Amino acid sequence: MESFKEEIAKKLALKTGRGWEELVKTIEVPPQPEFGDFAFPCHGLAKVMKKNPAVIAAELAAAITVVDGIKKVQAAAGYVNFWVDRSRASREVLKNIFGEGASYGSSKVGEGKTIAIDYSSPNIAKHFGVGHLRSTAIGHSLYRIYRKLGYKTVGINHLGDWGTQFGQLIAAFKKWGSEEKLSEVPITHLFELYVRFNKEAKENPALAEEGRSWFKKLENGDAETRKLWQHFKDLSLKEFERIYRALGISFDYYWGESFYNDKIERVIKLLEEKKLSRLSEGALVVDLSAYDMPPLLLRKKDEATLYSTRDLAAAILRWEQFQFDRSLYVVNVAQDLHFKQLFKTLELAGFDWSSRMVHVSFGWVKFGDAVMSTREGNIVFLKEVLEKGIELAEKTIREKNPDLKDLEKTARMIAEGAIMFADLSTRRHKDITFRWEEVLNFEGETGPYLQYTHARLASLLRKYGKPVKGEVNFDLLSSERVWPAARQLGNFPSTLLAAAEAYEPSFIATHLLDLAKAFNAFYQTERILTDDAAATDARILLCSCVKTVLKEGLYLLGIESPEEM
Ligand code: ARG
Repeated sequence: MESFKEEIAKKLALKTGRGWEELVKTIEVPPQPEFGDFAFPCHGLAKVMKKNPAVIAAELAAAITVVDGIKKVQAAAGYVNFWVDRSRASREVLKNIFGEGASYGSSKVGEGKTIAIDYSSPNIAKHFGVGHLRSTAIGHSLYRIYRKLGYKTVGINHLGDWGTQFGQLIAAFKKWGSEEKLSEVPITHLFELYVRFNKEAKENPALAEEGRSWFKKLENGDAETRKLWQHFKDLSLKEFERIYRALGISFDYYWGESFYNDKIERVIKLLEEKKLSRLSEGALVVDLSAYDMPPLLLRKKDEATLYSTRDLAAAILRWEQFQFDRSLYVVNVAQDLHFKQLFKTLELAGFDWSSRMVHVSFGWVKFGDAVMSTREGNIVFLKEVLEKGIELAEKTIREKNPDLKDLEKTARMIAEGAIMFADLSTRRHKDITFRWEEVLNFEGETGPYLQYTHARLASLLRKYGKPVKGEVNFDLLSSERVWPAARQLGNFPSTLLAAAEAYEPSFIATHLLDLAKAFNAFYQTERILTDDAAATDARILLCSCVKTVLKEGLYLLGIESPEEM
């Protein structure tokens, strides 16, 4: 569809005197094919020309002749709407997909550029919660999207494995810990200790002091303390890796907060030299009051470094290592201020690359009414969520397809698909409320609905039983009923670009839902396999292309597509 868009932009360029490359970016795809296949909004021109957009639209529509791939041009509500030659468009789109297969939509826009993505980044000694899952899902999807667009991608897991809380944990373990429980239910035990410590420290300030001194020891490299910390970390990593393995997630670097322990002094010196830091009540801070922000803390009164100090060191190291085009932080909205302070401090330090850093912020995940938070002890653990999902998916499959061979494996794919899709289908700044009945529904706007559509297509192709033909009578695919699906297939590449630009995997999720809906509408009214060989071949080509794009789109969201379910 890109070639049509360019044709339209070039026609518009001739009539408006603007560059077509600039115009092509403003061309939209109307949500419903009834309003045309492309729309050019005239509000932008209206401002410069000081003319009513409706008038401009009417003039443009009248001036543009319909030749080549454009069949109809019409003005409506300040837009010029364009209808493409559907037979030609279907042919081009399907031929491309048939020829390119899974690489359809890939591009070279990212060639020579690197994108660093900080995602997942859970905290050790705590269970992996659904909040970190959302970061994992978004970051992992962005990783795949950017890679498809030709970027070099670097995935970094900035593990929360350093800080005063680990001094507290060690203090708590020394007091109340049990080796036995630690080997039986490691994270649960560590978490209990963490909660108990915080509760008791409220009444007993000496305890907090003890925690601080343990952290001191840890920071100074005391061998025994480090060993205990490493043990806690290994236990946590084991659980995290089980989750990552199940979801097919991997990282290029596990550079957690502890990794920066010996890289902090340099940063503090640098800020001192630039006269950005100062002492405030014993703590070393960067004053950001001129920017309406509280100070960024570099070092506490007791000399301990902080989350923010380590993030400064991490940002600099990432730049030195990768010279990134963008450095993304996929982190919950609660840390908006932290990242504003971080980016501002780096800017003030004179790093011009600080403008390339982006906080890819996202909203909360709620279950019913409870917001997920480790601090309130009111958490839903991912492991439990997954187990519940698998159980429910198995039940559904038993009803729908009791003879399915790989029932357990498929149930797992569906449950994981349901969770990932729920995390990705809503625009990221919005909160999501997670309800199993909704996310597992095979007929709702869900991951399983897309997987199910894909599996049905796979079954259809099995029934067809022959290799799919790329050369068919395309006139048989120009009907109104086919078009919405073909059009959606054709717009997949531009959706990928838009998703990358806005850091929004949800654009792909929405695109796939629209594709599946368009295809299913066609599928419900037309038989695919008929006695008419030419019609069958043509429709099968469409089916096969829809299957390819669904599978690839789901892959970009980190979701597997079973061939049968
Ligand atoms: N561990 C942090 C948390 O759970 C997230 C870290 C995000 N990445 C970063 N570079 N700050 O809140």
